[in-house]
Amino acid sequence: MGKGFYISKGVGIVGVILGAGAVATIIALSVVYSQEKAKNNEVKPTEPGTTTNPTATATTPTPSNETWDQYRLPKTLEPIHYDVTLRPHLKRDPVNGLYIFTGESTFHFKCVEDTDLILIHSNKLNYTTQANGHTATLTSVSGAEAPQIKNSFLWDVTQYLVLQLNGKLTKDSEYKLYTKFHGELADDLGGFYRSEYKEGNETKIVATTQMQPTDARKAFPCLDEPAMKSYFNISLIHDYGMVALSNGAERESVNITIDGEKLVKTSFEMTEKMSTYLLAFVVCDFGYIESTSDKTLIRIFARKSAINAGQGAYALNKTGPILKFFEKYYNSSYPLPKSDQIALPDFNAGAMENWGLITYRETALLYDERFSSNSNKERIATIIAHELAHMWFGNLVTLRWWNDLWLNEGFASYVEYLGGDNAEPDWGVKDLIVLSDVHRVFAVDALASSHPLSSKEEDIQKPEQISELFDAISYSKGASVLRMLSDFLTEEIFTMGLRTYLKEFAFGNAVYTDLWRHLQMAVNQTGTVLPDTLENIMNTWVLQMGFPVVTINTTTGEVRQQHFLLDPDSNVTTPSDYNYEWIVPMKWQKKEAVQPTFWLTKKSNSTEIMKVTGSDWVLANINVTGYYRVNYDDGNWDRLLNQLATDHRIIPVINRAQLVDDAFNLARAKIIPTVWALKTTTYLNKELEYMPWASALNNLDFFSLMFDRSEVYGPMQDYLRKQVTPLFYHFKNITGNWTNVPKGHMDQYNQVNAISLSCKTGLEECQDLVKSWFQQWMTTGNNSIHPNLRSTVYCNAIAAGGAKEWEFAWLEFKNSTIASEAEKLRSALSCTKQPWLLNRYLEYTLDPNSIRKQDATSTIVYIANNVVGQPLAWDFVRDRWYYIFTEYGGGSFSFSNLINGITKRFSTEFELKELRQFKEDNSDEGFGSGTLAVDQSIERTIANMKWIAENEENVLEWFRAETKA
Ligand code: BES
Ligand code: ZN
Repeated sequence: MGKGFYISKGVGIVGVILGAGAVATIIALSVVYSQEKAKNNEVKPTEPGTTTNPTATATTPTPSNETWDQYRLPKTLEPIHYDVTLRPHLKRDPVNGLYIFTGESTFHFKCVEDTDLILIHSNKLNYTTQANGHTATLTSVSGAEAPQIKNSFLWDVTQYLVLQLNGKLTKDSEYKLYTKFHGELADDLGGFYRSEYKEGNETKIVATTQMQPTDARKAFPCLDEPAMKSYFNISLIHDYGMVALSNGAERESVNITIDGEKLVKTSFEMTEKMSTYLLAFVVCDFGYIESTSDKTLIRIFARKSAINAGQGAYALNKTGPILKFFEKYYNSSYPLPKSDQIALPDFNAGAMENWGLITYRETALLYDERFSSNSNKERIATIIAHELAHMWFGNLVTLRWWNDLWLNEGFASYVEYLGGDNAEPDWGVKDLIVLSDVHRVFAVDALASSHPLSSKEEDIQKPEQISELFDAISYSKGASVLRMLSDFLTEEIFTMGLRTYLKEFAFGNAVYTDLWRHLQMAVNQTGTVLPDTLENIMNTWVLQMGFPVVTINTTTGEVRQQHFLLDPDSNVTTPSDYNYEWIVPMKWQKKEAVQPTFWLTKKSNSTEIMKVTGSDWVLANINVTGYYRVNYDDGNWDRLLNQLATDHRIIPVINRAQLVDDAFNLARAKIIPTVWALKTTTYLNKELEYMPWASALNNLDFFSLMFDRSEVYGPMQDYLRKQVTPLFYHFKNITGNWTNVPKGHMDQYNQVNAISLSCKTGLEECQDLVKSWFQQWMTTGNNSIHPNLRSTVYCNAIAAGGAKEWEFAWLEFKNSTIASEAEKLRSALSCTKQPWLLNRYLEYTLDPNSIRKQDATSTIVYIANNVVGQPLAWDFVRDRWYYIFTEYGGGSFSFSNLINGITKRFSTEFELKELRQFKEDNSDEGFGSGTLAVDQSIERTIANMKWIAENEENVLEWFRAETKA
């Protein structure tokens, strides 16, 4: 191999074996454009019929400024349509043992600016050399004649197929580009990939896709940017009897023969004009159920055994109504003839909004009342709502570039609650956004290492930078801020602007300020009075990181705001054009009387109306519709605590949850004493509602993490046991000694809290109860534990038990064909207190035959949540980082979750040192989508150390005093 030619080992083998396959393919020699070669120096084409190898490019090119070094496409070409035929081979190649797919594509495009260069995204694809000696054939469709391809090569870094022409493509002429290629159908969860499952004793293969954000280029060469919308004619070649699906409805299936093999070619209706990241192709042996909603065909696809067991029924019942709900909400009819939902055994995210063919994890779509909890059910309803919401917001109208991802994901994450509420009106899911999104993201957005919602287009270039945007800020802060916006505008005005926005940009692209413009129009039309333009108000939330804590002084009437930082000593190094000042819509009440919205527009306002006398109190951020925390003067805190103690129901339930969360976090920021925060939990022995308990448990979880290795732990357990005992007996009572299910959705959740906290804090009756249930299952083989309670019962029984319990649960996990049951067991297996079991379990996480790749990182995090498992998991991850990073690198969420998860208990000098060392040791390969998480973890560790030093003594004393009384 000459200088500048490099062929990687792995793919080299593919080339060899394929060559030994059916056609007389000549062994691949890849063509690589070497930096040392002059730009004009032509690389000799290989012979027709050979494959050019993609990964065969120079791995470390010296920086240069060629067009192909730019991650963004030049603005010279515009897609018209693609005709793509793909054939996934669902059997291993007998010789090399690999799974592959083959494909052909004709890309029709228009030249909009003269150019002698074609750049088209392509990643890990091998091309067959054409008659012209190159990787592609270029012909003219209309207008000027097509120039010849002078030179072609694959550019790995920016993932392009580069075609240099000997003449120019001319403006307004149309051309087509033909390519033939193959790639590996790997189990890497990205692009066109392979999923496997067992049916009986048979292993079945599914070929499926996950394109978002930048993996369409791994399935076929394409202009893989969201604004390069096009029409797609897709065909799939597969075995007879298999199901073939894509975005469009099936148009025809014809029998074809390839190399003597009898196959079927299924072609789909041409898609609407759409982005590449929303494409989907599936070939599988699934079953399905269907119905029609208005004129839309709705189908649920899954493993045949799951469909036969009726596990698709719930999703099928809910999809139609939710789709209709959104048609009304957006005032826009669903533009496709069908909406397929498919449950995949291997899937990295929770679900993906491919237009017309939404893909899901099995747990996010399949419901079986014998196995699924109410929480599983809620997730199905809201995730369907989330993805269907994208059909308009994201798919019909697409943000121009990934920097605006927060609007796409934040929007869907907000309206999923509206869709979910519509599907299950009795559940009250809309309130849960406060726990799942507002509180979740407050925790990260209060760090100095946070970042604003909005990024600059030019700052987001590489695929890793794009992946990193799929974080809690985009999702949960996006959702929280949009909910606040919809709330202060009213839903009527919010939807009015939304509807005209969708109308203007249908089948096109927009930027987030386009939405502001349309909302402003709605504001103007309705004569709504706001303190400033909508854009100016929203800029304070979108362009600067963090959020304010608003302090109300009920003696002076002063209301002021400051940037809330969990660690008051941390340094905010990023200056803000808005000076960390927000325009804050404040909904508030004086005792029970709701007041008109108060707009805090400056650092501080003074107002008579916030003054109170006597036993009155002020409560702000009613129902937590605002994205901010609230603090009060001491007197008002006292009166609020007093109200909780005397009759807590006077305070709205969401605000009871909020008082707890605000108090705990203000205490962590050293704004109020920690003891005040603890005082918000003293009334809990009378609290029956879920949200305040959930909020308290969430905050006390931090106490557990900080103290479960110290002497505070005992007294803390005693206190919590005392507080939760009445709740335990309440549920025992209303369920007829644990035989019935509580009626309300939230009550069902709180029953789980009652059991889990009672068992965890050592309430004997609770521990005996769960042990006996589990024992009964082990001895009779009959599992009569209610699905809602399984997670906590399994966990507590395994924690109390030894190897016998663990092995039993492991076997049940391995044999389970129901994803939501497997999920519960997988999490419970991490609860054992035996280090050797935990260490062995850690080993299993990196063996895909034991734990699916999609579940590896979350399993490690589960183990780290266990105080015994924590140091084991940390050692394990450090030891295997390189392997984990390279083998599991495809995921988007996983790395930040992994790093945050295994370090969240960190609170000692030594742990900090180890963490810094870890960062340094791996600076070469880096942390991918977990880069930010490493810095966040360091910041969090420092804050934890300080917090413990300052609080340990007081807290210990407080718990002791509370339990003595
Ligand atoms: N577009 C995402 C899926 C996705 C996430 C693709 C990350 C690529 C990278 C989808 O709409 C989504 O947000 N799914 C969520 C579920 C939702 C209910 C929050 C998910 O996968 O968790
Ligand atoms: Zn989404």
